[in-house]
Amino acid sequence: MSVPQSIDPKHLPRHVAIIMDGNGRWAKQQNKPRLYGHKVGVDSVQAIVECAAEWGVEVLTLYAFSTENWKRPADEVGGLMGLLKNYLQKELSRMLKNNIRLTCIGDVEKLPKDVHKVLKNTISDTSKNDKLTLNLALSYGGRSEMIRAVRMIAAEVKSGDIKTDDIDEKLIDSHLYTAGLPDPDLLIRTGGEARLSNFLLWQASYAEIYFTDAMWPEFREEAFASAIAEYQRRERRFGKTSAQVESG
Ligand code: FPP
Repeated sequence: MSVPQSIDPKHLPRHVAIIMDGNGRWAKQQNKPRLYGHKVGVDSVQAIVECAAEWGVEVLTLYAFSTENWKRPADEVGGLMGLLKNYLQKELSRMLKNNIRLTCIGDVEKLPKDVHKVLKNTISDTSKNDKLTLNLALSYGGRSEMIRAVRMIAAEVKSGDIKTDDIDEKLIDSHLYTAGLPDPDLLIRTGGEARLSNFLLWQASYAEIYFTDAMWPEFREEAFASAIAEYQRRERRFGKTSAQVESG
């Protein structure tokens, strides 16, 4: 699968983050149970991971389960956990073959023991891979992530390891789950809603945000290519003027 013609392979976003929304509504449109939407959503995950790896995206972060998602009905939470475990077990060989490294962000200790174990094993089995980093946000919330970072930093100040003046962007970055990963350049949300839903609140400060009405189960190669093409048409100014950006 080569890079589609609509995309300039030299200006790919290094890090694409996706809020995969719309599984439930899509299933309803098909008169199917919500879990069917999540199942077909896993096929979209597979397709988008393959595109990202083939096209040369470095990091793909997928919002697979938020801290708030624990409040969903138990059978839906159980179904999602089952799909996740299955996906990891089924995809390990493909991750190894395609040089994909799996990482995760979030309070993963909260996941059911069996899922947590498969997750930890997949992370360790793929840790040497260096093509695409597939980063799954699981039991993830941006505000909890910041609370966790502030607590760690406060403890370091208290113990005298650092001074308050040492607290800067770099230090905060290094205490987030995403430490070591570049910030997302492009943040996509499917499903027709236009909000961040507690996703990568710090890291997405300068991300280009792309909202699409496509529901996640129908978001495949062509839709992904359109999102990247739109990103490439935008001018990223990082607070500067157009003239400053043009003069480099
Ligand atoms: C949002 O749709 C989607 C989720 C809460 C879960 C996303 C999970 C998957 C695609 C499957 C498992 C993931 C992996 C990585 C294997 P929604 O249910 O909120 O849709 P709605 O807004 O239409 O109700």
